[in-house]
Amino acid sequence: MSVIESMHVGRPTSRVDGRLKVTGQAQYAAEYPADDLLYGHIVGSTIAAGRIVSIDLAAARRMPGVVEIFTHENRGKAAWMDRKWRDEVAPPGHPFRPLHSDRILFDGQPVALVIADTFEAARDAASVIKVAYDVDPHSTELERKRSEAYVPPKKRSGIPPPPDPRGDAEQAFADAPVKISRDYRVNPEHHNPMEMFGTTCVFEGDGKFTVYDKTQGPQNTQAYITSVFGLGSDDVRVVNHYVGGAFGAALRPQQQVFFAVMASLELKRSVRVTLTRAQMFHIGYRPDTYQTVSLAAGHDGRLQSIMHDAVAATSHYEDYQEAVVNWSGMMYHCDNVKLTYQLAKLDTATPCDMRAPGAVIGVAALECALDELSYELGIDPLEIRRINFAEKDENTNKEFTSKALMACYQEGAAAFGWERRQPQPRAMKDGRELVGLGVSTGMWDAFLQKAQASATLKDDGTLEVATAASDIGTGTWTILTQIGAEAFGLPLEDVRARIGESDLPMSPVEGGSWTAASNGSAVQAACDALKQSLFKLAAKMANSPLADARFEDVEVQGRRIFRQDDPARGLAIAEIMHAAELSELTEQGKVSPSLIQMMKYISYTHSAVFAEVRVDEDLGIVRVTRVVCAAAAGKILNPKTARSQILGGVVMGIGMALHEESMTDHRLGKIMNANFGEYHIPAHADVEDIEVIFVDEKDDKVSPIGVKGLGEIGIVGTAAAVANAIYHATGKRVRDFPITIDKIL
Ligand code: MOS
Repeated sequence: MSVIESMHVGRPTSRVDGRLKVTGQAQYAAEYPADDLLYGHIVGSTIAAGRIVSIDLAAARRMPGVVEIFTHENRGKAAWMDRKWRDEVAPPGHPFRPLHSDRILFDGQPVALVIADTFEAARDAASVIKVAYDVDPHSTELERKRSEAYVPPKKRSGIPPPPDPRGDAEQAFADAPVKISRDYRVNPEHHNPMEMFGTTCVFEGDGKFTVYDKTQGPQNTQAYITSVFGLGSDDVRVVNHYVGGAFGAALRPQQQVFFAVMASLELKRSVRVTLTRAQMFHIGYRPDTYQTVSLAAGHDGRLQSIMHDAVAATSHYEDYQEAVVNWSGMMYHCDNVKLTYQLAKLDTATPCDMRAPGAVIGVAALECALDELSYELGIDPLEIRRINFAEKDENTNKEFTSKALMACYQEGAAAFGWERRQPQPRAMKDGRELVGLGVSTGMWDAFLQKAQASATLKDDGTLEVATAASDIGTGTWTILTQIGAEAFGLPLEDVRARIGESDLPMSPVEGGSWTAASNGSAVQAACDALKQSLFKLAAKMANSPLADARFEDVEVQGRRIFRQDDPARGLAIAEIMHAAELSELTEQGKVSPSLIQMMKYISYTHSAVFAEVRVDEDLGIVRVTRVVCAAAAGKILNPKTARSQILGGVVMGIGMALHEESMTDHRLGKIMNANFGEYHIPAHADVEDIEVIFVDEKDDKVSPIGVKGLGEIGIVGTAAAVANAIYHATGKRVRDFPITIDKIL
């Protein structure tokens, strides 16, 4: 069908939920009202390892407004019914179970939950609870645990292990004329979205609950609640219409949802539990990682050996894994590659996915190392990347469904003005500032996940498309509305998307940058099925002008279905539905990856990131004055929301390059900068000119709608581009992220 030019898809459409958000009408999990609502406040452990000996609740129980206090001794009886339960993205091990026993696994671990009439009363009472511990020695320092590093279990990790070695990387390294071997470190970072974790569990009576949760997957949270508390799926409805940023922190059900539901079940009341900003530092984080990258090349710049080894932190109860080193086996062409990835256990919470998990860390090291090699070789850093371009994925020997990376290099360099770069470090100055230009490649998976959707035509001619997806700020509401409007040729106002409810058609969590491709394709499939149904109804009507038409010959637009060759011959949708005595018409659609295609092809999003820095050497201050990110991401559904994704990723990458670092006092096992004063995320003054380019990339295999997804690619490569620019400006190579003032001076 569709001979008509695109009305919505590909247009820079403003967010359909934008007005609700900026006027405060969009409700977030901790904002829903409920009658007789109770408030919970979590009390965290003050030690990092050991056992609880006793908890003195007497003073807290006497405080005004206190309703109940839960500890491991009186937690809800229903909790932990299903001992084997694991969430959709759980690594090997056992998901954290709040109040499960007296055992302390990390600093800040919940040891009690105070429930009171007001949040203030709960927090006040929490402050007078006294916990006595039997303290065990702890270790939160990865450096000290590196000697105990182990190869993580592959089973059920969901993460591809490093590929087997190819060629002989060690021999090739020894034989090569030009080589470097360097150590890199990315310090741990914590998630700090605007919206902190919160759950409002509304007790509906009859053992039914509506749970408003901050989550990236309402169905994942629903499965958690029903499994952990032994409830039926009809009894629990999870809603997450709006999510104030997540980036991976809310892929897995977090503490607050456990506590809100547990207390609600026990007290038969509605309960809200929220975390404070400081408590956000007691849950998942981007793990501390040590890396060594060894690269060797001929004088022509062609890589002859790549070795990349990483050791990352995990907790004692889970083997959290990321693909850190795998990128080094497929980013560039090289016949001799050896990659290793190990974990070491610390007395911390389990790390968690954080925007492009693994890739940001591994690509940062590889791309800094390649930059170092380019100076050894005397080859332009952009040129060395072109010289080593990989035509296929050499880890798996599969073809890329598309890879417009060369266009990213070219268009990015042109927009950035790469040609003005003087090759020597310290060669470019502007007043008292040294100027540096750096480049990096970026790469991230272009996943397609199983997803379902429904499409419903109402008799007033409006369309509703529904899938249990989430919008974590990415624009899901908007792009699904666009896809529906495009399919039926309707104005956006006549299309309503429904997402963020557990009882909608099946959706994975919103993560991995797969939502636009997966849920978008499911919505499109549902719309196609609906158009077919509509056509069948129309064709069999008495004296139908479409009686002898084929489905391929008709178009649906503006509340009518008509012949493409003669638009006057058609029927109004309202007329068709009236004749069929329908008040609405619904069809389902679904998408899943093609296994046959997956044997031959693999899909990635690519980018080229260019950064300009200005460094005041007297003060050690680095300003990132310009970034150009050119991305190849298949079809762009909405250039406006797509650009926002890249902007956000680049800003987060600037944070990783220069600012973000969770600092632990290892004597206490405690993070000491658990606040926005001392954990610095980029503020407006840290962000200057960012330009986003989407290069043309057609891909008819990655997903039915040709979309790759953009949530994560913007952060990958940004930190390396900034670090490389700092070297170019100053001649100083910092291999320890973030590159703070003390490391520049
Ligand atoms: Mo993303 S780290 O899968 O939210």
